[in-house]
Amino acid sequence: NGKRVLVTAGGTREAIDPVRYIGNRSSGKMGYAIAEAAVARGAAVTLVSTAALPSPAGVNVVKVESAEEMRQAVLAAYDAADIVVKAAAVADYRPTIVADKKIKKAAEDSLTIVLQRNPDILQELGSRKKSQFLVGFAAETHDLEAYAKEKIAKKNLDMIVANDVTAAGAGFGTETNIVKFLFPDGSKTELSCLPKRAVADKLFDAVLQRLPGAAK
Ligand code: CTP
Repeated sequence: NGKRVLVTAGGTREAIDPVRYIGNRSSGKMGYAIAEAAVARGAAVTLVSTAALPSPAGVNVVKVESAEEMRQAVLAAYDAADIVVKAAAVADYRPTIVADKKIKKAAEDSLTIVLQRNPDILQELGSRKKSQFLVGFAAETHDLEAYAKEKIAKKNLDMIVANDVTAAGAGFGTETNIVKFLFPDGSKTELSCLPKRAVADKLFDAVLQRLPGAAK
């Protein structure tokens, strides 16, 4: 109650030409559930989203498409935020050249699109962190805990939500999720399969236990 919470949701879209993009399977449902849980607890919530889901009541929704647009919107809200939860699936690469007209079929059987690295938004937030409590997500298909631990260190996180996106009832597009919370001190909490909104409430319970000066 009274905290400022910044949440990101959905998968970014990286334009190829005016009618096509490179995307991913993220639905945005986990991020929206997190925004709803935060606003229900009395937080002032900004949700930076690529998803076409209905805006939750009382949440300031900022719609974006690409990773770069998400980066701009997140950085604009970052300094004022107390808690930041980066649930969005951000494209690591974007087409180097965005065609200004629709790409037409050519005679060749193959087409090459050259990609270049996108900025890592969460890593940038971690490197300029002041008092924000920074929560990342790790979407993995294998070696879940090892990769999640690496991301805590590399991105200077206070907590990570580790998510095996291939498990039944977990990951992209589902109504439920199966996650583990991992912390920089090595501690962890494993949750059973729960509706995404229940995962969101467990997430804030865990954050509040660790947030300096917060009511538990
Ligand atoms: N993330 C981000 N900017 C990127 C890539 C990822 O902010 N360019 C954030 C995501 O929002 C998520 C976390 O970093 O909170 C981890 O994302 P994930 O896709 O699991 O991993 P990556 O860091 O991209 O690493 P890899 O692709 O090697 O698994």
